[in-house]
Amino acid sequence: MDYIIEGGHRLNGEIAVCGAKNCALPLLGASVLTDEQIVLHNCPAIVDVFNMLELLKAMGKSVFWQGDTVTVSGTLSTTTAPQYLARLLRGSALILGGTLAAYGSVNLPLPGGCAIGARPMDIHLKGLESMGAEISCYDNALHCKGALHSAEYEMRFASVGATENLLCAAVLVKGTTVLSNCATEPEIEALERMLVKMGAKIEGIGTPDVSVTGVKKLHGVEFDIIPDRIVAATYLSAVVAAGGQITVTNCNTNHLHAFINVLRPHFNVVQYADAITITCDSQPSGYGRICTAPYPFFPTDMQSLLLAMASFSNGGQTIVQENLFENRLEHIASELVKLGGNITVKGNSAAVTGSKLTASNVVARDLRGGAALAVAGLNADGQTVVHGAENICRGYMDLDICLNALGAKIHKQ
Ligand code: EPZ
Repeated sequence: MDYIIEGGHRLNGEIAVCGAKNCALPLLGASVLTDEQIVLHNCPAIVDVFNMLELLKAMGKSVFWQGDTVTVSGTLSTTTAPQYLARLLRGSALILGGTLAAYGSVNLPLPGGCAIGARPMDIHLKGLESMGAEISCYDNALHCKGALHSAEYEMRFASVGATENLLCAAVLVKGTTVLSNCATEPEIEALERMLVKMGAKIEGIGTPDVSVTGVKKLHGVEFDIIPDRIVAATYLSAVVAAGGQITVTNCNTNHLHAFINVLRPHFNVVQYADAITITCDSQPSGYGRICTAPYPFFPTDMQSLLLAMASFSNGGQTIVQENLFENRLEHIASELVKLGGNITVKGNSAAVTGSKLTASNVVARDLRGGAALAVAGLNADGQTVVHGAENICRGYMDLDICLNALGAKIHKQ
């Protein structure tokens, strides 16, 4: 699928943010911890969520959608995730810890790398092995089994997925498991809060050092998925690209502070707890030096948006250093160069000198890169075609329709 974007149309109006993909996926992964109903409100209707639900259904769960509420319940009929589904999204890895803890075994096709990097799972696996899991890897799949026990485990890197898997592994395990150097993204805190609402005993919620005292059983829960901070940042960068004034609502601006701090010196920003109004009438001369790092620092998932904003800034220099995913810079940079971006990539750092962009044909090879190319197309003179726009639909609910409602001119074919 392609997005055809006509640049130069200012944006005005209000747009509400949907639930976060990276919150929905771990909460759905945690549904394996109980047979009772997990009722999730504000669930985004996006491809990754659809595929995660298909995976859970294929393993025996019942799934029911009503509006933006999804209900998952029932017992797994198998602990083997079907390869054709597991390989569709990285989020499939998030059934690992909970299934192992609740059923004593799990077989998961390797989720594999993607455009942004190799994405190994050593931190997940070493943590589960420290809890007694026996893990072997053959036929391109992870085969895990064993009765888990409590443990003390320090992650070598604050991995989001590993934190989520190890939390789900620990909540049903006798004794107290201490996890150190955990990721502290808002989506992790949401998972911890949901697990506690299900009856789990967790200390250190939202912090890098978490201790989990296992319980015999977890019960069902009703829970609100938190707003998608990356989608919110995408809308903010869209009005930077196109000019105009928008208000982004139904977001948690505390989760966006690193991104807002980049914008505030250059644009008129009015921030509320759950909304933000931004007015953009001119481009800044660059954004200085910004490095991505685990929360609460500048998120890697907003890096492509920053690169796009830097590429159409007014002449100045921006240095973007990507410290999490080894391939995340290169391909988005090369596509922005096709639009006239003046970007030099050396290792994990990109030096950008702002310039006027001109429409071209570009390729979206990953979700966030695709969204950044759409944003750049709002700024470029002429008609930009973003090929591979189906990648954008993995994480965004009708990004074209949402931006058109603000005044953009995007159509898909
Ligand atoms: C989650 O991926 C998000 N995905 C990613 O969002 C996000 O970019 C990332 O966290 C960082 O914030 C979901 O939540 C579904 P990591 P995850 O484990 O868990 C290395 C998007 O576009 N690593 O924190 O896979 C890894 O290779 C996606 O929404 C190991 O080396 O991220 C990477 O370099 C993209 N070994 C770094 O750590 C491991 O065992 C961060 O990975 C695990 C990770």
